[in-house]
Amino acid sequence: MDELERIVEAAKLDEENKIENSLRPQNLDDFIGQDKLKKNLKVFIEAAKNRREALDHCLFYAPPGLGKTTLSHIIAKEMGSNLRMTSGPVLERVGDLAAILTNLSEGDVFFIDEIHRMNHLVEESLYPVMEDFELDIIIGQGPSAKTIKLPVPRFTLIGATTRAGLLSSPLRDRFGIIEHLDFYEIKELMRIVNRSAAIMNIAIDEDASEEIAKRSRGTPRIVNRLLKRIRDFAEIKGGKITHLIAKEALEALEVDSAGLDKMDRLILTVLIKKFGGGPVGVDTIAVAISEESDTITDVCEPYLIQSGFIARTSRGRVVTETGYSHIGIEPPKNFQKELL
Ligand SMILES: Nc1ncnc2c1ncn2[C@@H]1O[C@H](COP(=O)(O)OP(=O)(O)O)[C@@H](O)[C@H]1O
Ligand SMILES: [Mg+2]
Repeated sequence: MDELERIVEAAKLDEENKIENSLRPQNLDDFIGQDKLKKNLKVFIEAAKNRREALDHCLFYAPPGLGKTTLSHIIAKEMGSNLRMTSGPVLERVGDLAAILTNLSEGDVFFIDEIHRMNHLVEESLYPVMEDFELDIIIGQGPSAKTIKLPVPRFTLIGATTRAGLLSSPLRDRFGIIEHLDFYEIKELMRIVNRSAAIMNIAIDEDASEEIAKRSRGTPRIVNRLLKRIRDFAEIKGGKITHLIAKEALEALEVDSAGLDKMDRLILTVLIKKFGGGPVGVDTIAVAISEESDTITDVCEPYLIQSGFIARTSRGRVVTETGYSHIGIEPPKNFQKELL
C-alpha cells in the first residue's frame, strides 16, 4: 500500500516540519491534555530546578503524533537549557554518540527519537553515561587496548519510542521518569483544532471543530493535518470552515466518521473476509495487505484497539462486534464473545 498517502498517517511527512514547528506548544500550559503527565512533569522540573540539578532521564512512549517531540522541546525550555536532538538510527557508531556527548553543557537536554532503533553497541555505551555520566572509550586494539573514562556533563536524556516494550530492560531501567501518552479526548482535540486554527488564521465553527476532532484518531498531528487540508476546501468556498465544509472535505479525503482511513478499513475488512474475524497474527495481516507489520502494530492497531474495533488476544487479533458493525457486516452467528 506504499503508493497510498495516508491522510490519517500519524507519522510525520517531510513537508510538515515547518508548519508543525509553528503549531508546537511552547510551554507546559499551552500543551493541551495529558493532565496527569503534565502535573508530574511540573513537580519534577520544579524540584530539579530548586536543586539546581539536571532533570532525571525521561522516557516517553506513545504512538506517533501524540506529542513526544513537543514535550522534549518544552522540557528544555522550562529547564532553561539547550536541546540537542538526534534519533536512534542516526547514531550508528559509539563515536557519533561521543561527538554529541562531549559537546553538551551541564543541564542540557539530549533527545533521542526512536531510541529503540539504536545500534546495540551504542546502546550499551549509553548505560555508564546515563548512570555515572562517564563514557567508556576503548583506545587501541587487541591486548594493548585500553579503556579510558571520559567525563560527560550532567545532562538529561529524553528518549522517545512507540512502545516501551521495544526497549531492552537495562536501557529502560536507567530512566528515572517513564511516561506514556494517551490518545486525546474529543474535548481536548477540539481545543487543539481551535488553537491551531487561530495560529493559522482560519475561522472555524464549533461544530466543524468537533467534527475534525472526532475524526482525528485521538492524535494532535492528525488534527493539524486535516485542518490544513480542510482549509484548502474552505478557501474556495469563502474562507470559514463550517460544519458542512468540514464534512464534505473529510469525505473527499476518505476519512470516515470514526477517523478511519482506507488502510484501517482494509485491515478490518481483510480480518473479517479472509480470516473470519480472527484470531490472526499481525504478521499474517501484514502479508495479506502488503504492509509492514511494524506499521500495523505502531500506527493502525493502537487506535483500532482503543476505539474497540479490534481486540488483542493471546491467539492474535480479533474483530469485535463494533468492528463488524462499523464495516457494515453482520457478525457470524457463532460469534465468539468469550474470545474477547
Ligand atoms: N498536547 C498538545 N497540544 C497541542 N498540540 C500538540 C500537542 N501534542 C502534539 N501537538 C501537535 O502535534 C504535532 C505532533 O506532535 P509531536 O510532538 O511531533 O509528536 P510525536 O513526537 O509524538 O510524534 C506537533 O506539531 C504539535 O503541534
Ligand atoms: Mg516525534
